[in-house]
Amino acid sequence: MNTKVWIVDKNVDNLESNPQIVDAANFLRENEVVALPTETVYGLGGNAESDEAVAEIFAAKGRPGDNPLIIHIADKEQLSRFVSEVPRTAEVLMDAFWPGPLTIVFNKKEGVLSEKATAGLSTVAVRMPDHPVALALLKSCGLPIAAPSANSSGKPSPTSAEHVLDDLNGKIAGVLDGGPTGVGVESTVVDCTEAVPVILRPGGVTKEQLEAVIGEVRVDPALTDEASKPKSPGMKYKHYAPNAPLYLVSGTRDFLQRLVEEKEREGLSVGVLTTEEYVNQFTADVVLACGHRAELETVAAALYDTLRRFNQLKVDIIFSEMFPNEGVGHAIMNRLLKAAGNKIIGE
Ligand code: TXA
Ligand code: MG
Repeated sequence: MNTKVWIVDKNVDNLESNPQIVDAANFLRENEVVALPTETVYGLGGNAESDEAVAEIFAAKGRPGDNPLIIHIADKEQLSRFVSEVPRTAEVLMDAFWPGPLTIVFNKKEGVLSEKATAGLSTVAVRMPDHPVALALLKSCGLPIAAPSANSSGKPSPTSAEHVLDDLNGKIAGVLDGGPTGVGVESTVVDCTEAVPVILRPGGVTKEQLEAVIGEVRVDPALTDEASKPKSPGMKYKHYAPNAPLYLVSGTRDFLQRLVEEKEREGLSVGVLTTEEYVNQFTADVVLACGHRAELETVAAALYDTLRRFNQLKVDIIFSEMFPNEGVGHAIMNRLLKAAGNKIIGE
C-alpha cells in the first residue's frame, strides 16, 4: 500500500475546507485508516462504527485484540449515539477539560460501535482532542473515530509524522502531517462509571487538576501494584520500549556514571537519558537531553522522540534518570517504567 502524506499547516483558518483534510476525511468515510496529529501523540484513526476499518487499525499496529480503542469526537452531541449515560462527574470533567488530553470511560450503548473497537467491553473510552487538524478532520468526516497511538504495538508512541512513517509506512492509507505534537504523552484515562472516578492511565491532565474540579479521584491500584489486574486492558502490556534494554537509575549522577563505565568496560555502547541541566555531567557513547527537569512538561514533550533516537543511534543499553512522581511526572514515570519493563537499579 502506498501511504499518502498530507502536509497541513495547523495555524491556518478554515481547516475544514482545506483540501488535504477533506481528502483524508473521504478516506475515513471509505473505512480506510489515516494517521492524524492530536495534542498528545499521533493517532491511527478509523471509522469506529466499521468492523473493517477497526480491523485495519489492529492489523497495521499488530495490536492485541483485547485492548480497546479510544473513540475521538469533535462535538459532545455525538456522545448520545453510543454512550448510554453521562454521569454528573463526566459532565463536569468534559466542561473543564474538553477539548484536551482527558479520556473518559462511559457505559456503552450496545449495537452502534464496532465490537472490535471496544474489545467486547460494556464500556467505551471517549475523548475530544485539542488539536485544530484533528478537530477539523473529525468535523469533516462526521464520524466517531477510533484512534490508538499510531505506532507499532509495543514501540514508543509517535510525536511526529516521521515517527508514524518509521513504523507504519506502507501499512496505512495516509498520514496528515501537522508537525510535532505538544503534550507528548497520551491522555489521562479516567473511569466515570464508578461513583468515585478512577484514573486508569496517568497522562496529560494530572490527578490534582481532576480533583480541583470533581473532588476525590482514585488511582487504579494496578498502576502501582504489579500484582493487581489493570482495568485498562492496555496497561498490562510492555509498551514504549526502545530496542536496547532500558534501566531506570535511582541514585546519584555519579552512581549512574559508574554504571555507564562498567558497561563500557564490557565493550557495550551505552546511552544515557538525562535532561538539559545535566547533559554535560555524563560521559558515554550517547548522552541525550530529554527536556528540562525544572519543567516536567518539556520532558513529557520530548520523551518518545528521545527513546526513538536511541534506536537510531544503535546503543546496546540505556540508563535513565528518574523523575518526580508528581503532576505530569506521574505519566512520565509510568511510561518510563513500562519502557524499562520495571527495571530499576538502586544505589
Ligand atoms: O492521547 C491519547 O489518548 C492517544 C491519542 C491518539 O488520542 N491515544 C491513545 O490510545 O493513547 P491507545 O490505544 O494507545 O491507548 C488507549 C488506552 C489503552 O490503555 C486502553 O486499554 C484504554 O485506553 N481503554 C480503551 N477503552 C477502554 C475502556 N472501555 N475501559 C478501560 N480502558 C480503556
Ligand atoms: Mg498506545
